[in-house]
Amino acid sequence: EFSWKLADHPKLPKGKQVAVVVLDGWGEAIPNEYNCIHTAETPTMDSLKHGAPNRWRLVKAHGTAVGLPSDDDMGNSEVGHNALGAGRIFAQGAKLVDGALATGKIYEEPGFKYIQECFETGTLHLIGLLSDGGVHSRLDQLQLLLKGVSERGVKRIRVHILTDGRDVLDGSSVGFVETLEKDLADLRAKGIDAKIASGGGRMYVTMDRYENDWNVVKRGWDAQVLGEAPYKFTNALEAVKKLRAEPKANDQYLPPFVIVDENGKPVGPIVDGDAVVTLNFRADRMVMLAKALEYENFDKFDRVRVPKIHYAGMLEYDGELKLPSHYLVSPPEIERTSGEYLVKNGIRTFACSETVKFGHVTFFWNGNRSGYFNEELEKYVEIPSDSGITFNEQPKMKALEIAEKARDAILSKKFDQVRVNLPNSDMVGHTGDIKATIVACKAADEAVKMILDAIEQVGGIYVVTADHGNAEDMVKRDKSGKPLLDKNGNIQILTSHTLQPVPLAIGGPGLSPGVRFRSDVPTGGLANVAATVMNLHGFEAPSDYETTLIEVVDN
Ligand code: 3PG
Ligand code: CO
Repeated sequence: EFSWKLADHPKLPKGKQVAVVVLDGWGEAIPNEYNCIHTAETPTMDSLKHGAPNRWRLVKAHGTAVGLPSDDDMGNSEVGHNALGAGRIFAQGAKLVDGALATGKIYEEPGFKYIQECFETGTLHLIGLLSDGGVHSRLDQLQLLLKGVSERGVKRIRVHILTDGRDVLDGSSVGFVETLEKDLADLRAKGIDAKIASGGGRMYVTMDRYENDWNVVKRGWDAQVLGEAPYKFTNALEAVKKLRAEPKANDQYLPPFVIVDENGKPVGPIVDGDAVVTLNFRADRMVMLAKALEYENFDKFDRVRVPKIHYAGMLEYDGELKLPSHYLVSPPEIERTSGEYLVKNGIRTFACSETVKFGHVTFFWNGNRSGYFNEELEKYVEIPSDSGITFNEQPKMKALEIAEKARDAILSKKFDQVRVNLPNSDMVGHTGDIKATIVACKAADEAVKMILDAIEQVGGIYVVTADHGNAEDMVKRDKSGKPLLDKNGNIQILTSHTLQPVPLAIGGPGLSPGVRFRSDVPTGGLANVAATVMNLHGFEAPSDYETTLIEVVDN
């Protein structure tokens, strides 16, 4: 019979305070000029790496080790934190959508039937990230869906694109739009009225997260629903090319535009009787739009007109809020996470990050569930992020503030686990600004030091790891590892994550002297960390968790 009660660890004591530090986008790679972690001064992380040999190792953070379709898939924060928190590997959104499309099951589910009800008399709107990055969405899935709906009675399709440049190279939006335009032309040849209706860069239009800046979602709403935007074009390819040509413009931050007909009328505002699908399978950057589309009571911005639509997400984005209420593919059933177990076994938990990563150490950590398991035992603190800037302008971000909160939580002795995410190396790495990323890595390292010092003071234990790589490699490489040049002879900056493994370090005065990393789990990944942390709290992990990475030898 199922019980939340965790067995006592046979050798490790209870009652030690454990700090769990997740450096976002901090992978391990060979040292060279594009490795910002190597270039930056990072004495604290260096000392962990060169300290006790059995207390530092690498773990896998990409591909099948975190539930992605293949080992060519780079890691990302959603799957990384899911694995860290849940202690098991779940087939993730990308893979589940692939499966549902391949078998055609997606078309038999209630979510699809619901949007199909509008096909006869309404328009089907598809809103999402146009990219093959595989982090939030994938172009080939959109292509399969377009084919699927075209065979199932759709009459009119409008695609609202969000350009990427963050999970893929900057500038790749042009090729994606060309591909999509070709597919839409093929549909038109078959008698389906299919067009791109609006667009904008993902970081400026629609894809905000954790309510950092509702203006981002509003810009998208105005273009997608109301058909209003500062830029109007008759052709999406021209729109993207022209807007990219503006000084400092890039795919991530393209301004919103709408496509208009020859009379200047927008070709695809969302109106009563239409169906809407948000194409992203990943949750964090779709939740806000889902709320705007679905909630009757909504006060985050003036929606002006709220069309009566049938709306479905590609996935359910929030398991606690049941948002959206209709979706095409069921999300991974991530239950019995380590956070829930530990709280139910009395572990008082503190979690903190700044807004842009706050949900990573709470929502993603807890299996894409918002809120607390037990308000009395948990405290989640969000430090407001700077908004309206790109993070290369402020590469230190709120690392110091996060570390101070963690330090205070540790020194207060009110918590058994103090968990943080330090966003710098990821958020600044995504800007592609190498100089700023070096500053970012240094700031994150200083934050780690402050937390480790606090752990030292209270006789606790630390676990330092990362969710995936980013800042350790800032250049696109060919198969042999050589940096690739663009047509002007400049290196191609890699704004995205990587396939690299990440460090895992344990230590602190509270760590029993006999604890060391096992040598028999060389392929260990992020999902093995949960059992490891449970052990450090004095518990055995549940038997279906991925195995612990530590053992206790008698000295
Ligand atoms: C983003 O959403 O910012 C990127 O697509 C992925 O970054 P993350 O997985 O580190 O959040
Ligand atoms: Co990232």
